[in-house]
Amino acid sequence: IENLECATLELEVRDAVLTVRVHRPEALNALSPEVIAELREVFDLLRSLGRADAVGDPDWSIRGVILTGSGGRAFVAGADITRMRDMSREEVRAYTRDAQELTVWIETLPVPVVAAVNGFALGGGCELAMACDMIYASENAAFGQPEVALGLIPGFGGCVRLQQYVGIAAARELILTGRRIPAEEAQRIGLVSRVLPDTGALMGAARESIALVAAQSPTAVAAAKRAIRAAQALPTDAGLQIELEAFADRFGTPDMTEGTAAFVEKRTPRFPGL
Ligand code: HXC
Repeated sequence: IENLECATLELEVRDAVLTVRVHRPEALNALSPEVIAELREVFDLLRSLGRADAVGDPDWSIRGVILTGSGGRAFVAGADITRMRDMSREEVRAYTRDAQELTVWIETLPVPVVAAVNGFALGGGCELAMACDMIYASENAAFGQPEVALGLIPGFGGCVRLQQYVGIAAARELILTGRRIPAEEAQRIGLVSRVLPDTGALMGAARESIALVAAQSPTAVAAAKRAIRAAQALPTDAGLQIELEAFADRFGTPDMTEGTAAFVEKRTPRFPGL
């Protein structure tokens, strides 16, 4: 995956963690159609993780992804306004559909994705971060959905996911005022999981978190992600039903057999990832 030719992304694999860095220094990493296309290429490839192929076991060679921005000033400052303003309705529909689908691919990836927000996460940047499993931020990070100032509304999932993160009151307030909030406030309202002092600590924390997940059963992690997402907007009873089925499906899997055997034998599990 590292060998993909990308003009707007920097890719690096280390210790089974893929770091994807949006790199558009001239525009605070704004999401041009090329960035969306390249992110789609990367995450589309990752979607085969954990699936057995015709000849062998599932590929778990990447155990987590860190999504971040290059340059230290911005994670992603939103959709590229200069490019977007010239689009026709048809073009913007295709651009938005592609970007929304990308957020779904991120959300449904079998491995954890951590957004390491090291500066502005505005508009589409905040929406991209919200598609990730966890949002970690450096102290200088800032979040917001400023679209109404442009005569727009959030379009990459902001009207949907922000209220899931922070509740309807805070989501309305943020989207209608377009107000920008610092990392600490974003953590207080539940958008951000951890705030770290600087970019070094931020990346370290993201790696540590992925390492913790990577010590667990990868099939259980993937199943938990699926169940959480499926149950997200459902009434309690329907959600419980989904959880029940997903829980029962774990039984008899090699990972479940190994995990429970390791507990009984008082040893560290060695998960086959099946
Ligand atoms: C295009 C952008 C950009 C963007 C910044 N730049 N954000 N270009 N699209 N979203 C460019 C600036 O034009 C400038 O280019 C350079 O990056 C540096 O930005 P400055 O504005 O000079 O920096 P600063 O004064 O520090 O202000 C930073 C900022 C501001 C507060 C982040 O740039 C800003 O408000 N950006 C727009 C944020 C925004 O509205 N995002 C939502 C977009 S709509 P030059 O060439 O002048 O140096 C959206 C919709 C999603 O995301 C859904 C779509 C369907």
